[in-house]
Formats: sequence, C-alpha cells, structure tokens
Amino acid sequence: MSDKHLIELTVNGTGHEVLVEPRRTLLDVLRHDLGFTGTHTGCEHGVCGACTVLVDGEPVRACLVFAVQAETADVRTVESLGRDGELSDLQQAFAEHHGLQCGFCTPGFLMLAEGFLAQRPDADRAEIREAVSANLCRCTGYQTIVDAVAATATRRRCQPAPQEETTP
Ligand code: FES
Ligand code: FES
Repeated sequence: MSDKHLIELTVNGTGHEVLVEPRRTLLDVLRHDLGFTGTHTGCEHGVCGACTVLVDGEPVRACLVFAVQAETADVRTVESLGRDGELSDLQQAFAEHHGLQCGFCTPGFLMLAEGFLAQRPDADRAEIREAVSANLCRCTGYQTIVDAVAATATRRRCQPAPQEETTP
C-alpha cells in the first residue's frame, strides 16, 4: 500500500496536485516536484533561512514544514514578487542598495522582508535590523540588506500601492 497522499498546494495563487510522502518537506516539494527553484536549500535544519517562503502571509522555513501541513494554506515563493519581467520594489531596492553579493541567501531575505513589511509597514530601522537577523548572510554584513528593506518601507509609505482597476 502506498503511503503517499494526494494533496493540493496553492503556490503563488495557483493550485497544484502533488502526490507526497507525509515526511516530505515543503521545501523539497516546492523545488523538486513543482519547480519553484527560487526557494533555496541551505542548512535544512531551520537555521539559515535560505528556504523562507510565506505561508498565509507568515515567513516560515520551508525545510521545517511538511508539505501536507501546507495543504490548505496560501504559499508564496520568491517567484511571486516580480511581474511581467519587472522586479518588485523590494527586489529593485536590493539591487540599488547592493543587498546581495553571491545571492544565495537573497530569496529567503526577500520573502522574510516581504512578510515582515506586510505586518509592520511602519517598522523603524532597529526593528528591520532585528527582523532580518533571523536569516544568515555570509557576504553582505547585513547593512545593505537593512538599507534595502528600510528604503522599501519608506517608499511604500510615501507611494501606497495603486488600487486595483475596477470595471465600470
Ligand atoms: Fe531551511 Fe536553512 S534550509 S533554514
Ligand atoms: Fe551571499 Fe548573502 S549574499 S550569503
């Protein structure tokens, strides 16, 4: 008898049916079954944060979540940030402020920051520094990552997201 379960995962707004063993992590399913390779595999022990995705808006380490636990959730990966080939404002800020060098940690930082700014749009620099300390970066020294997230917070406060167009 197969011990696999057919689950439906909603990733970046699209439903996907996947057959998974109960022990399979959300990280492995995202990368290997669904092809969302923007989510990186680092320590696989919940330490580095390279695998951070949003689950119902909360930044979580995908290596510590079983895929079956995310069945009813809204999962968002780094692939959800850009649109039509354009970088999101946060991605653009990382580029402008040199918030990455090798870039291995970057998807995790982007999703961590995206979730944090959604919950704390008025966060000050000290709070941003505290938030990004959850993830590991071996290259940047963090200063430039804090600069990028702080710049995005300021930009979003000054320029609220445009309203969705409504049909007359
Ligand atoms: Fe998940 Fe490091 S790979 S925390
Ligand atoms: Fe290299 Fe962060 S940019 S680990």
